[in-house]
Amino acid sequence: MSEAFVIEPAGELHGSVTIGGAKNSALKLIAASLLADGVTTLRNVPAIDDIATMLELVETMGASVSREPGAVVIDTSPGVEPVAPYELVRRMRASVIVLGPLLARFGRARIAMPGGCNLGARPIDLHLKGLEEMGVEFNSSHGYLDAKVDRLRGSNVTLEFPSVGATENIVMAAVGADGPTVLENAAREPEITDLVTMLNRMGAHITGVGTSTLRIEPAEQFGSVEHEVVADRIEAGTFIAATGIAGGEVELKGARYDDLAIAISKFCEAGLLISATADGIWVKASERARPTDVATLPFPGFATDLQPQAVALLSTSGGTSVVTENLFDGRFMYTEELVRMGADIRTDGRHAVVRGVDRLEGAPVTAPDLRAGAALVVAGLVAEGETVVSGAEHIDRGYEDFAGKLRALGASIERRPA
Ligand code: UD1
Repeated sequence: MSEAFVIEPAGELHGSVTIGGAKNSALKLIAASLLADGVTTLRNVPAIDDIATMLELVETMGASVSREPGAVVIDTSPGVEPVAPYELVRRMRASVIVLGPLLARFGRARIAMPGGCNLGARPIDLHLKGLEEMGVEFNSSHGYLDAKVDRLRGSNVTLEFPSVGATENIVMAAVGADGPTVLENAAREPEITDLVTMLNRMGAHITGVGTSTLRIEPAEQFGSVEHEVVADRIEAGTFIAATGIAGGEVELKGARYDDLAIAISKFCEAGLLISATADGIWVKASERARPTDVATLPFPGFATDLQPQAVALLSTSGGTSVVTENLFDGRFMYTEELVRMGADIRTDGRHAVVRGVDRLEGAPVTAPDLRAGAALVVAGLVAEGETVVSGAEHIDRGYEDFAGKLRALGASIERRPA
């Protein structure tokens, strides 16, 4: 049944919150487990719906999956049928990330074509182009993409744009190719560093980690591996925005300062005090946020996945901010919901002009997607009266116990049937 988050203003946030493992890393690490002949043990795996979907996908293919508290063990020895069915790909577009590892291991894969998405057009042309350069042939019919290759060829591949998913698919294919691959203009997100670290532990030799040129030497074979998922920088950034808007002082345990460096510098420009601690990040809010211009960019730039939460914060600032979205068309649709809460936001293409208002008002609103949903909850922390954010299932895709974690910091938030 569909549920809603119900939020009432309850003053400042205080205390500490533990940041979980990164969704966008764990998803790819689960896909990488398809390469292994042995067992993959992942620790610090967040209990969120997208991870459940990815585990269901590898299970549907034939792997055996067991869940322990905070960990997941994936054993592919029962055999894997390299088919990603429509029911699962439709639920989560990121399922397409199994393409690379399946090609590396089986030389073939059949993947349902991901359909439309509420972040505008999200093509996979760069994934396919890179894999074609490695010898893969694609055919599409009846809503499925069939990929096959006799021997994957190590190649020189240059991405037109540093796509996160294309980088990951090409790297996971290249570890099973004949000969080395050099990938230029690769994405540099911390989740890619995490994936590369695990692939190297499984037997690959990938250098250039964290840079835009990756040199990938294939693995002779892929052994069992145990790996801890990197902390979720987007969950951490969401709690920074929440503290900024509600006021107070919060420690984000386990969060990695360096993975958020540019976002942190922007939040500091907006008036927050933020520093690294021995075990995470410490955040203190200012009296009222200051206006700040923000432009999203691939890592290390300001993450697009933090754009809606930053807009929620800036909507209550003491001036006008211009926010530019450079990654996804259609990622300002949620601003209409913030406007229903009294925000003053005008959008024009990839720009949003956010004029800070003195007060937001609680209202019934709808989460159109994961991060926009989180932003509406963040806005609800200070909106006068009751804010009801329906579409909780979007938020459950990427935040583990979001309401519980906010409540532990002093927020008034609960779930109820929508
Ligand atoms: C990943 C993240 C997502 C994040 C995004 C950008 C996961 C599961 N998701 O998504 O949360 O917002 O990175 O940091 O890790 N593009 C093409 N052709 C392609 C591939 C991408 O045109 O073949 C475009 C996309 O439409 C988009 C931009 O490139 O405009 C960025 O996409 P990409 O970096 O690939 O993001 P994802 O891997 O889909």
